[in-house]
Amino acid sequence: MARRRPTIGGYCAGEPASELIRVNVIRGYIVEAPVVGSTQVPRVGPQWSGSEVIMSSQGAKDRTLDAAAIKRQFPGLADARLHYLDSAATAQVPASVLDALRRFETTARANVHGEVHRLARAAIAAYDEARARVARFLHARSPAEIVFTSGATAAINLLAHSYGARLREGDEVLISLLEHHSNMLPWRQLAERRGIVVRMLPMTEDGRLDLGWLESEIGPRCKLIALTHCSNVTGAITDVGRVVAAARSAGAVVMLDGAQRAPHGPVDVQALGIDFYAFAGHKCYGPTGVGVLWGRRELLEEMPPFMTGGQMIESVTLEEVRYAAPPRRFEAGTPPIAGAIGLGAALDWMATLDWRAVRSHELRLTRRLLDGLAHLEGVRVIGPGDTHDRRGVVSFHLAGIPPAEVCRVLDLRHGVAMRSGYHCAQPLVAAFGVAGVARASLGPYNDDTDVDALLAGVEELTRQPSLVTAAAKPAPKRAAS
Ligand SMILES: Cc1ncc(COP(=O)(O)O)c(C=O)c1O
Repeated sequence: MARRRPTIGGYCAGEPASELIRVNVIRGYIVEAPVVGSTQVPRVGPQWSGSEVIMSSQGAKDRTLDAAAIKRQFPGLADARLHYLDSAATAQVPASVLDALRRFETTARANVHGEVHRLARAAIAAYDEARARVARFLHARSPAEIVFTSGATAAINLLAHSYGARLREGDEVLISLLEHHSNMLPWRQLAERRGIVVRMLPMTEDGRLDLGWLESEIGPRCKLIALTHCSNVTGAITDVGRVVAAARSAGAVVMLDGAQRAPHGPVDVQALGIDFYAFAGHKCYGPTGVGVLWGRRELLEEMPPFMTGGQMIESVTLEEVRYAAPPRRFEAGTPPIAGAIGLGAALDWMATLDWRAVRSHELRLTRRLLDGLAHLEGVRVIGPGDTHDRRGVVSFHLAGIPPAEVCRVLDLRHGVAMRSGYHCAQPLVAAFGVAGVARASLGPYNDDTDVDALLAGVEELTRQPSLVTAAAKPAPKRAAS
């Protein structure tokens, strides 16, 4: 059998180059890769780290993604009649993640609280390795900056409680109208508890963050800016550079809610210049019940714990409690051990993808979807109508038909799985003057057939709204055998 060439995120090291790319590589993860020219390039191993390296990319001119091959790795997508367009809610899980979970549960299932038997040692090693994998994915300075939580919501609540403990009455936290409730309610609750002020950036008419207000909304008492990295309703991506520059001049720290951005490839928290990052495992092709809060070490060290109990201490006497250093300080009780290990495997799986090819594939499908919807009578896209600075998350409203009915009919008649409602972003959806929207969201396993099934279903509904009532009828009773 022919040996495979070492690849880095889909780029082959040491190939005679037809195209050159300038890359920032962090232990095998390409952070950025603009095309710069054409010549022979050096060999670079997958563990190599450095920036501004020039290396070859095999087939760089034709960076098409084999979505069918990717889909075959996902047992949950084996049914060809299923068109899964709900990855922004929860992505599907590749077989390699299921294998890693099974391996843990059958060969290393134990707690990670310092037990000395062999299963415990294996569990601790796997848990530590998972933390290291997350650190690589985020390009964190150290695994000690990675806190495992039960999800993105838990990560942001942790931050609001623990960093919030440093804030004083009258201090300000800046969020935006684009936020998921998970990055809105923890701050509003903090305002009720501690008298801080929550300010809110507005959005543009097409559902992007309106950064024109940034300077005027960041006052002298602004201590923290907590924004979505990518909207779960409109798909718009935040211009982080501009936010960080404004935050620095005000002396505020920046937290990004990366729940919708992390599934789209490695993130470089150092290059972004931010202070905290939150994301969820189940949207990154990993298990449910696990998430991550990354924080700069010096900030985490200054923060008190959120929850208490279990091994998050150095010592407890009847007079005094001394808390452990981060990240343990923030992981009260038994942490999501299997979840973290599954997430580590999911990030390993993500590292096998050529993210430039995934990106152009996603852009093409998003364009196909937006163009198709634009041609349908009564359909209004909620969010940018173009593919500029946005992800493959497309929400729309169909005149006269509730979004839940749109999704139900598309599921029953076309096998299209989408989500409806206000997507835990009720103020945002309400600002568009509707109570809910249908949302299609893409993953690397989606292809034209998925988008076309959705478009065919919506087109059919625009012609035959009565399908809603027909689909609501109970299935005919089977004759007793
Ligand atoms: C932008 C955004 N933030 C936060 C969350 C919350 O993630 P979780 O439910 O995994 O805690 C979601 C989930 O949909 C999201 O889309």
